[in-house]
Amino acid sequence: IAALQEVVEEIRELKREKNAVILSHFYMSPELQVHHKDGGIADFVGDSLGLSVAAKSVEADNIIFCGVKFMAETAKILNPAKQVLLPSFEAGCSLAESITGADVRKLKAQYPGVPVVAYINTYAETKAEADICCTSRNAMDIARSFDSDKLIFLPDLFMGRNLQTRIKAETGKELILWEGKCEVHEQFTPQRINGLKLMYPEAQVLVHWEVPDDTVADALTGAGGVVGSTSDILRFVGESKSRQFILGSECDLGATLRGMYPEKEFIVPCIKCPHMKQITIQRTLEALRAIGTESERLYTVDLAEDIRQSALLPIERMLAFS
Ligand code: 13P
Ligand code: SF4
Repeated sequence: IAALQEVVEEIRELKREKNAVILSHFYMSPELQVHHKDGGIADFVGDSLGLSVAAKSVEADNIIFCGVKFMAETAKILNPAKQVLLPSFEAGCSLAESITGADVRKLKAQYPGVPVVAYINTYAETKAEADICCTSRNAMDIARSFDSDKLIFLPDLFMGRNLQTRIKAETGKELILWEGKCEVHEQFTPQRINGLKLMYPEAQVLVHWEVPDDTVADALTGAGGVVGSTSDILRFVGESKSRQFILGSECDLGATLRGMYPEKEFIVPCIKCPHMKQITIQRTLEALRAIGTESERLYTVDLAEDIRQSALLPIERMLAFS
């Protein structure tokens, strides 16, 4: 703990010296989620929508992004005058990697005039081809807002199917889907969740939109629960009278939930996102140390200006919506 404390102290000092802030996702390891005012290093901890909103209003010259590459890119798109640093470019995402801008152009040629909703878990060149972006928090409201009876929703197949079930029942809209999958959430199969429900019949189930659609139906029967975004899950637990929950999302969200609700019990099958876990406190320290030196470019998010501008429009439409 003393060694960790030393790293935390050096990061806090370097943030002041280099005029930097740290934005951190709820899937980061716990030490990257502790807020600065509580003796930690994060200036803001949030889900992907919260982080996008926070990135827009940062005043410091440097943003260290403790999240994955598509999130750091979004921060850069929204705030081009700032330097955005990602502590490891190994922090990818199976969803973002499943689709390219060229794939979207082909889809648009195949379904002319059908609006394209791109999940925020895409790279800038993919976003650049979309009409609007969404996160798991606002996807349903955004899909609902279009007049068109068809929408292209990409790239998450399971999230698309989960949205389709709700939107079709409500509005009759049809979603055209892509085959992308989150390599973490696809592992929350009905067998995995149902086995835990047998063992803990009183527990409510918390699943992210990205889990398979056949899991969702099973998850919500019995003691009930929620399908939603990371923030929906956090809010649901705060409002629920239940004392026991099964988590169907990234392992370290379990630590976040235990920290926020110490009186409640969380059953967490520990599946970690290998991309998120590329971001460690040591690499965060190294990125901060690099600011203003030769090696800074190893961490800096760089986007071609035309791509950045094209990707900005769908993100701004989403933010105006939220
Ligand atoms: P949120 O939009 O809930 O933060 O989700 C991010 C993510 O990567 C989900 O797997
Ligand atoms: Fe991508 Fe899934 Fe990891 Fe989120 S949890 S970054 S969607 S692979």
